Amino acid sequence: MPSCLLFLLFISGFPSSTAFNLTTLTFSRSFSPLFSDFNIKTSHHDKAVSLLLNRLSGSGIISSDYYNYGFFSASIKMPSRYTAGIVVAFYASNVDTFEKNHDELDIEFLGNVKGHAWRFQTNVYGNGSVSRGREERYRLWFDPSKVFHRYSILWTPFNIIFYVDEIPIRHVGRHAGMQGDYPSKPMSVYATIWDASSWATDGGKRKVDYRHEPFIAEFRDLVLQGCVVDPIDQLPSSNCTAEIAALMALDYSTITAHRRKSMQWFRQKYMYYSYCYDNVRYPVPPPECTDVPLEREMLSNGGRRTEGKVSGRRGKGGERRSKAAKHQTAR
Ligand SMILES: *[C@@H]1O[C@H](CO)[C@@H](O)[C@H](O)[C@H]1NC(C)=O
Ligand SMILES: *[C@@H]1O[C@H](CO)[C@@H](O)[C@H](O)[C@H]1NC(C)=O
Ligand SMILES: *[C@@H]1O[C@H](CO)[C@@H](O)[C@H](O)[C@H]1NC(C)=O
Repeated sequence: MPSCLLFLLFISGFPSSTAFNLTTLTFSRSFSPLFSDFNIKTSHHDKAVSLLLNRLSGSGIISSDYYNYGFFSASIKMPSRYTAGIVVAFYASNVDTFEKNHDELDIEFLGNVKGHAWRFQTNVYGNGSVSRGREERYRLWFDPSKVFHRYSILWTPFNIIFYVDEIPIRHVGRHAGMQGDYPSKPMSVYATIWDASSWATDGGKRKVDYRHEPFIAEFRDLVLQGCVVDPIDQLPSSNCTAEIAALMALDYSTITAHRRKSMQWFRQKYMYYSYCYDNVRYPVPPPECTDVPLEREMLSNGGRRTEGKVSGRRGKGGERRSKAAKHQTAR
């Protein structure tokens, strides 16, 4: 841990956190290739998988099962060197089953030019709410291309929590006003790397530079927990009562006072865009948004940070492509 972080933790009263107690899966038990098998390499006794992007194609994997709520997690190491234009995504979606009214929970890492930090964004869609993006963008307190860190998505009928290591970085409580916008249909879990030259870095000004190929994202310590269902067979016949109760009983499905404190620490230091404060897009914030005065003040420039401290390359919130379009451009 860098000493500057220790110092920050110390001065901000950063709480200690209990490590997750997780059962990890092998690759072949949990995932299958989604596209470009030739760019997918498993290793370490099937416990890790590398996804490559080269001038031929990106690559992607998909969970072998659909989950009706769950906890999805992986330790990931991003490509290093020149990574502008690259997106590495870890997400849950059912766009392949419900084309018009799909649900989705995203973590997307955005590459950068040499010497500039990776950034990432999270997003939530429900029942085809693609016209109502719920993006937030952040930096990290470490270089994600140097070491593995764990990224997780917890999804229950009552809340959604995104984690980086044991730090909750975003919490979405299910608000009745969200109606169908709250993801509630079975989803698969995906991991992909692809060429997003048209938007990922500096609004598309910096493209993928294939002189640096291959770009490799490594995934390991895979965790898929939840109620496995057949999406075609639909909800009435699947009784997930016990599995959902187990999810909700997980220690980390609750934002304790300690966790709230670490979440605030993260958001106040590293979040640089939130749709909740983007009053141009949303004159009235979407119903699940809770007003946090410090965040509002910090993101008073239409949901964006006003200070010039944010890595010198501020991304734009708001731009967005469907996953289907992404896969088509992922070559
Ligand atoms: C971790 O989980 C396993 C089974 O899920 C359990 O047997 C074990 O006691 C747990 N360990 C801790 C430290 O909670
Ligand atoms: C989801 O969308 C479908 C069609 O687009 C609609 O019939 C249904 O009522 C919606 N469900 C919810 C919970 O809003
Ligand atoms: C689901 O299963 C539980 C027992 O595991 C049972 O108590 C409950 O009635 C079932 N619910 C439905 C809707 O079948």
